[in-house]
Amino acid sequence: MIIEYIEEKLQKVLDSLDFDIKAKVVVSNRRELCDYQFDGCFAYAKTLHKAPFEISEEIVHKYQELYPNDEDFSQVASAKPGFINFTLSNTFINRYLEEMNSKEKFNIKMPAKKKIIIDYGGPNIAKPLHVGHLRSAIVGESIKRILKYFGHKVIGDVHLGDYGLQIGQVIYGLQQANIPIEKITIEILEDIYPKMSALCKEEEQVKEKCAEITKNLQDGNEEYQKYFQKIREISGQDILKIYDYLDVHFDLWYGESDAYPYIDKVTEELKKKNLLMTSNGAKIIDVAKKEDELEIPPMIYQKSNGAYLYGTTDLGTIYERIEDFNPDNIIYITDMRQSLHFKQLFRVCEKLGFTQKITFEHLGFGTVNGSDGKPFKTRAGSVPKLDSLFKETKNVFLNSNSKNQDMSEEDLDILVNAIIKFADLQNNREKDYIFDLNKFSEVVGKTGPYILYTYLRIESILEKETANIKLDQKEIFNKEDRNLRIKLLDLENTLKYSYSTRLPSILANYLYELCVNMNAFYEKNHINNLEDQKKKESWLFVLNLGNKVIKEMLTLLSIKIPKKM
Ligand code: ARG
Repeated sequence: MIIEYIEEKLQKVLDSLDFDIKAKVVVSNRRELCDYQFDGCFAYAKTLHKAPFEISEEIVHKYQELYPNDEDFSQVASAKPGFINFTLSNTFINRYLEEMNSKEKFNIKMPAKKKIIIDYGGPNIAKPLHVGHLRSAIVGESIKRILKYFGHKVIGDVHLGDYGLQIGQVIYGLQQANIPIEKITIEILEDIYPKMSALCKEEEQVKEKCAEITKNLQDGNEEYQKYFQKIREISGQDILKIYDYLDVHFDLWYGESDAYPYIDKVTEELKKKNLLMTSNGAKIIDVAKKEDELEIPPMIYQKSNGAYLYGTTDLGTIYERIEDFNPDNIIYITDMRQSLHFKQLFRVCEKLGFTQKITFEHLGFGTVNGSDGKPFKTRAGSVPKLDSLFKETKNVFLNSNSKNQDMSEEDLDILVNAIIKFADLQNNREKDYIFDLNKFSEVVGKTGPYILYTYLRIESILEKETANIKLDQKEIFNKEDRNLRIKLLDLENTLKYSYSTRLPSILANYLYELCVNMNAFYEKNHINNLEDQKKKESWLFVLNLGNKVIKEMLTLLSIKIPKKM
């Protein structure tokens, strides 16, 4: 890695000066001045009783003394008031790009392999998927792909919400309407759920009845089980269709109900460790810690009527996952509003001793908002279902440019995905964002269509020429050319950062900037009809590598490339 390489060299200099300074190098915040910089002189001015600039001068001197024939940098300079600026040499840049091009995964060193379970998607059956479900699927799929890219064994689980109160409500509604099990359809479910949910808010008696049905279902009541199986089957097919459209794929289709066989074991273990307490007839687990600034309430493990809750099934699921897979890491992708739940859950895991072997992570995401800053709704005021959102996106894209109407249906679906996914993934997942289809569908700006258009445009040049695999080590021809090469060098740093922070947005923004560089390069440097063969080969090499990066990074964002647009 470039930064580490520079740090190593610099550390030798600092050590030989007997400075107790750590060589921490960062990407330059003014790329027009240099490529990397060292800001460490300021913090040591006091200790060394010197001005920062004196220190930086001394370091640069020593650097030149230790590395007299340095080929890595065209300049290592001390700059006022005390920075050290590093500018890479053409030889270094081109050698690095060649390695990137010839080795697998751009020659990036990967961490030790781990087994990771990633729990994302998390839809509740019997309720249609709506815009609120987008982020878990899109962000989760991307994080899964990034983890896989880094060589881990990753298992994705959809973790259906299939045993909660909504099932009791739907079963109640089906029975009231005399709908026999074999006649249940997705349309019926979509009609009944909102009605029952509203009714339960109005009538306490109905609510209690639905809670009772849910409890009996959880206890294994045969008739309710039959309803449940059918609802899960029908709803599952519908959910699968949506995820297929989004190119989101799960290895496991488990749900909360699958955790029930493990609950007795959890209870036993909790009792053995004396962790279960009774409060108003309910069983709870205290998870507060002395150092907490905000009070963390106990996890409710079992309600007074005997029913189990969200935390209980999550604990059961952890038992199940340990038995089946023995993972090193379990990652949950949900709305940020579930942060407290996961904090409680992970603390129980700590008490049970799981955290010694397994790392637990909750990766939260923000809300998809409308232009009014409130959760996104259709013009009619309802939360849009995903399949209608896809249709609307396609329409907006088709109408944004008459040429789009010549695209194949398959390519249009690819564009719908690109529009929705790139709009989402460019935002830090923890932040809310405003859903603006017109803006997202444009071919200019930070959009999915822009990235795809750039790729296809470059691809059409490359198709006509054959790119070389060797570069002339010494030459870079102009500013746009150098900027693009430097951007390509940044890939490793970016990918690693995106991986360690679990933020696909880092990658999405890099991809956009790379495309801006590719376009600037392309506008300035015309390749067709170029006489200078060396220059031509060098440029083809760079464009080819650029497109290779775009293609692979798009896969990590689960965005496909259309044939034509
Ligand atoms: N079904 C849940 C919801 O709708 C999300 C499930 C997330 N996964 C988990 N293991 N708790 O909010």
